[in-house]
Amino acid sequence: MLTTSTQIFQKALAEKFAIGAFNVNNLEIIQGIMEGCRAKKSPVILQVSAGARKYAGAIFLRKLMEGAADIYSEIPIVFHLDHGEDFEICKECIDHGFTSVMIDGSKFEFAENIALTKKVVDYAHAKGVVIEGELGKLEGMEDDVVVARGEGKYTDPAQAAEFVAKTGVDSLAVAIGTSHGAYKFPLGIEPKLDFERCRKIAEAVKIPLVLHGASSVLQNFVTEINSFGGKVENSQGVPEAAITEATQCGVAKVNIDTDIRLGMTAAVRKNLAEFPENFDVRKFLGAARDAVQKMVEHKIDILGSAGKI
Ligand code: G3H
Ligand code: 13P
Ligand code: ZN
Repeated sequence: MLTTSTQIFQKALAEKFAIGAFNVNNLEIIQGIMEGCRAKKSPVILQVSAGARKYAGAIFLRKLMEGAADIYSEIPIVFHLDHGEDFEICKECIDHGFTSVMIDGSKFEFAENIALTKKVVDYAHAKGVVIEGELGKLEGMEDDVVVARGEGKYTDPAQAAEFVAKTGVDSLAVAIGTSHGAYKFPLGIEPKLDFERCRKIAEAVKIPLVLHGASSVLQNFVTEINSFGGKVENSQGVPEAAITEATQCGVAKVNIDTDIRLGMTAAVRKNLAEFPENFDVRKFLGAARDAVQKMVEHKIDILGSAGKI
């Protein structure tokens, strides 16, 4: 069932759990996620980045997600644009069936971010689509934008309150120490998120918060990739206990992309190594799909969204 996130978020905040927002790029990822959600009876956000649109094409992705809504009709599904970079992209998605859109003005100065975000909110709300804004700057790589280590900027609670009041956004992505990609915290240090800040922001804005860069960089995937010939540098992601804690501090949406990529890569490498004679692509893509399902089921347990449909 296709829906917006309004009711799901209300329930998530009231019952202190979060919804997984998984990045989708192809059929197998969508199938794996949806099978995981069906097994766990969890609502879900399927999100599409600019990179995904470039890879698969907006129409293919939309049709795949519509297929998911038909086949998994018992699951509330939000179609979400991840990191919408300008008004035109957001408008196109709002006009073409997305139920939720992120306008990412975090690269702009405060006033410019407000003006752009408000313009998108006004357009979206008139059409019943909800908007996620972003304030603060995450480190790491997303699409072609790279924010170097040390150049991120944590979200300020008072500024967040002003941002939400002036834009009317429905949810807010915050920077509290997470970062995009597979290299979040070096080995040997204790990964820390600023939960005190998170609580203050939640209190100040009174809307659901969103945690980007929230993959845990699951070690079993990295080990498996490297044991089958890969060369992924080992590092730490966001610990699962921190994700659970975030759900207690006003976070209702948790973005996961890297763990999908790692899980699929591990499964493909293992399958190709174990069956060197195989050239039926369905065998290794099927293994990747199964890995996504298993990983999503595990995430749903961490997020607390099982049985919340
Ligand atoms: O936040 C960004 C996501 O991980 C999407 O990455 O643009 O490479 O699809 P992508
Ligand atoms: P990860 O790179 O931690 O999976 O974050 C994904 C994300 O924030 C997508 O918007
Ligand atoms: Zn993100």
